Order: sequence, then structure tokens, then C-alpha cells
Amino acid sequence: MVSRTPAAASVILAHPYGGSFNHALFAEVCGALREAGARVYAHDLYAEGFDPVMTAEELGKKPSVDPLVLSYARELLESSLLVFVHPNWWGQPPAILKGYIDRVFRPPYAYDFDPERPEKPAVGMLSGKVGLVFNTSNTEAQREDGYFRDPLEWEWLRCVFGFCGVDNARRVLFRVVSKSSPEERAAWLAEARFRAAASLAEALAADRSTAGAADGTVGGGAR
Ligand SMILES: Cc1cc2nc3c(=O)[nH]c(=O)nc-3n(C[C@H](O)[C@H](O)[C@H](O)COP(=O)(O)O)c2cc1C
Repeated sequence: MVSRTPAAASVILAHPYGGSFNHALFAEVCGALREAGARVYAHDLYAEGFDPVMTAEELGKKPSVDPLVLSYARELLESSLLVFVHPNWWGQPPAILKGYIDRVFRPPYAYDFDPERPEKPAVGMLSGKVGLVFNTSNTEAQREDGYFRDPLEWEWLRCVFGFCGVDNARRVLFRVVSKSSPEERAAWLAEARFRAAASLAEALAADRSTAGAADGTVGGGAR
């Protein structure tokens, strides 16, 4: 059984280019959390060579034999704050992060079913944690919301965090990166630092009040 460390945070980056704004965001967020006293599990998925492809064994009942999957999953459970930093690519996370979700947000770590009542909704195993997603994009808000319908909002807040019991989650969007000035990007980094520290404070408060509770149900029948 993995115990929860109140001041731990997982920060996951999905961007292949070290000079990207996403890398700057990742560094800023990790720095803010460390300054606030958190133990930070910081992972650059590309730099670590994470394999996003789900295996047949993992899809069944067998636990993963990939040490990266196992350590990411352990850290996910230990962390009070779960942070993801990535660009909007086709209204989705980059494939490497989709693979992280497929392989790490798995039963029994992130959600599970009651073997006695398999028809019942899954139980989210990450309840009580705080979720925070930083996204960058090149689409104006009006077009993203009106035409594309911002699929990442549903993906993160409902399909991933909500399903796994993380009700206290939010996304922070920085756009339009391609048209942004150095001053705007500096302000975005400051906002990211502020949001990370504020979310950590919320996570610690939740830890204190729930004392490590890890239950909660989500709807959706077999899903
Ligand atoms: C494969 C790919 C797909 C993209 N798809 C979208 C998209 O659907 N919507 C959007 O607004 N921007 C899209 N973009 C632009 C990126 O979101 C943008 O380049 C990035 O957020 C800028 O941050 P960065 O400088 O850290 O890369 C895409 C970029 C790439 C490379």
C-alpha cells in the first residue's frame, strides 16, 4: 500500500523541444512548488524516453513491467497535486502524454471496479487530490470555444480527472503563443508560478481536512 505524502506534487511535461515555452512553464512551475516546500516529481516525458504504447499484458489484469510506468503510478498516488504541462495538438495532448494517461491512469491505481458489482460505476482512486493543467495554443479564445469547443477541457476535467475522482481540477490556458510578446510570456510565467503555489496550498488544505481519504464514485456505467 502506498502512503500519501502531503507535500508531494507530480509535474509532467509533454513537449519535445527544450527551448519551447512549455519547457519554460515546466521549469517555472517546478521552481514555484519547490520554493513552497513541496517534494516535486518532475518528469519530461520525451527526455525520459517514455514509451506511450499500451501493451497487451497491461490491458489485461497483469501489472505493467515497465519501471517508468510503475514509478509514475506510485508517484501519482503519493502526490497531493497533479500538474500537467502541454501544448494543444489537434485539440488533444501530444501522443506521448496520451500514452501516459493510457498506461498510468490505470486500475487499480487511478480507478477501480468492485469485482462483486462490475456493472457499477468505477471508483475514482485519486479523490482528494488537486489537478492542474497548463495548456498553450495558437487559437483565439472565440474560435476555440465557438468552433472547436475546446476538447481539452472535457478531456481533462471530466474524462480523466473527473473519472478518477479528482473533482478539484482546473486548466490554465496561455494563448496565442505565436503572437505573444516577451512581456506577455513573462506575465504568463508569473501567472503559472502563482497558480501552482495556490493549487499546492489547496492540496495541502484538502490533505489536512480529508486525512488521506481515497474514495469517491463517478458515473458512466461500465465507464
Ligand atoms: C502537431 C501540432 C498540432 C497543433 N494543433 C493545434 C491545435 O489544434 N490548436 C491550436 O491552437 N494550436 C495547435 N498547434 C500549435 C501549438 O499549440 C503551439 O505551437 C504551442 O502551443 C506553442 O507552445 P510552444 O512554443 O511551447 O510549442 C499545434 C502544433 C503542432 C506542432
